[in-house]
Amino acid sequence: MTISSTHTVQKSFHDAIVLGAGAAGMFCAAKIAQSGKRVAVLDHAATLGEKIRISGGGRCNFTNRDAKPENFISENPGYCRSALARYTPQDFIKQIESHGISWHEKHKGQLFCDGSAQQIVRMLHGECATGGVEILNPVKLHNLRRSDFGKARYALDTSYGPLHCNDLVVATGGLSIPKIGASDLGYRIARQFDIPVVPPCPALVPLTFEPEVWAPFAKLAGVALQVVVRLPRGEGGRGNTPEFTEDLLFTHRGLSGPGILQISSYWQPGKTIAIDLAHTEPLDAALIERKTQDKRALHNVLADYMPQRLADHFGAQVVALHAGKKLPDLPDSVLHKLGQSLNDWRIEPNGSEGYRKAEVTRGGVDTRALSSKTMEATALAGLYFIGEVVDVTGWLGGYNFQWAWASAVAAAKAIGESGV
Ligand code: FDA
Repeated sequence: MTISSTHTVQKSFHDAIVLGAGAAGMFCAAKIAQSGKRVAVLDHAATLGEKIRISGGGRCNFTNRDAKPENFISENPGYCRSALARYTPQDFIKQIESHGISWHEKHKGQLFCDGSAQQIVRMLHGECATGGVEILNPVKLHNLRRSDFGKARYALDTSYGPLHCNDLVVATGGLSIPKIGASDLGYRIARQFDIPVVPPCPALVPLTFEPEVWAPFAKLAGVALQVVVRLPRGEGGRGNTPEFTEDLLFTHRGLSGPGILQISSYWQPGKTIAIDLAHTEPLDAALIERKTQDKRALHNVLADYMPQRLADHFGAQVVALHAGKKLPDLPDSVLHKLGQSLNDWRIEPNGSEGYRKAEVTRGGVDTRALSSKTMEATALAGLYFIGEVVDVTGWLGGYNFQWAWASAVAAAKAIGESGV
């Protein structure tokens, strides 16, 4: 691409261009533009904000009241601290309230719109309009390169024609849900400028099992219960991983539900997960103690601790190996083993449902190459990465949107305050 005339340059020059008009990109573009800069946001999708629209079951879990750095996974765990501290969940609550959006807390600090997720999309459009952001979509980026023409540090060759900017913000998200526009553009841009990328993989995703491992459990599809799920000691690979007390759902192909989605973000192929199916008490001691007064069949006793279908399944397995069906007929050693295995059920996934079903992507642009204060590449002035494209992955529960807002504001402040 050649720059043909001063007129073209002026028309195509923006102080800042934001690539990707999702949660982070729209918020960032609006905040930069509101500081008086000329801003364009580009997206290849025909409809913007699709991920927001489908989030939180259509009500968008837009933040978590208790968001802390500990709720995020990254190769560089302290990186998110600064941005999260400078733009808090309370700040975003004020933001949505200024647009008259009412909200409620559902569970564990998770905040949702009372109405619909579209309210957040409309708010982002409104904020962009207030700042006069030019929204260009659908647009294809053919080429991106460094520029040394006047104030322009980056030149973009797009289906809208040539564009130039002083600051370029990459907000193209992760790889989850390709059918609504996810792409690897952000990672390609990072690599083009020699910025390392932590290998991406699906996260907050249902886990699958080898068909022969799963065959005995497939009939339990639809069973749901609260469990404690964790990675067994030594299986974490990333030091201390948290445990989650959340619901689990059996499916035809494997395990899903919030507890599994949470642990999936920490799980590594070849490792097992540990699930406490009766987390309210140590089951071995409880079963042995009840032997003297409880004459019921084992599966009915187990159903005091878990759904009947699950109790039938595990009860039948034990009874098949022993003469008696009733609790008092079973030796203490058998009840001890059964109780321990239900409090610590170990199972090895063979993979996950992949990006098709993953809520987020773990990994991404390596934060060790970015400033934690501004999100700018430390080796390349004017290039910023925000939102999910960065190697900062939140837990389930509004944390990922909070990172999108906080990282967007960190970059926008730096760009808005720069006098270039
Ligand atoms: P996001 O993915 O939102 O936006 C990226 C934008 O870049 C898109 O508009 C895309 O079209 C564009 N783009 C990509 N490639 C491009 C290219 N080559 N050229 C031009 N444009 C390109 N989180 C949470 O906190 N609470 C919740 O309730 C949910 N719920 C939820 C449900 C489901 C089903 C999913 C899949 C995800 C969630 N999430 C969530 C996660 C949350 O949606 C996600 O972390 C944020 O949307 C990330 O915001 P970004 O702006 O970084 O990326």
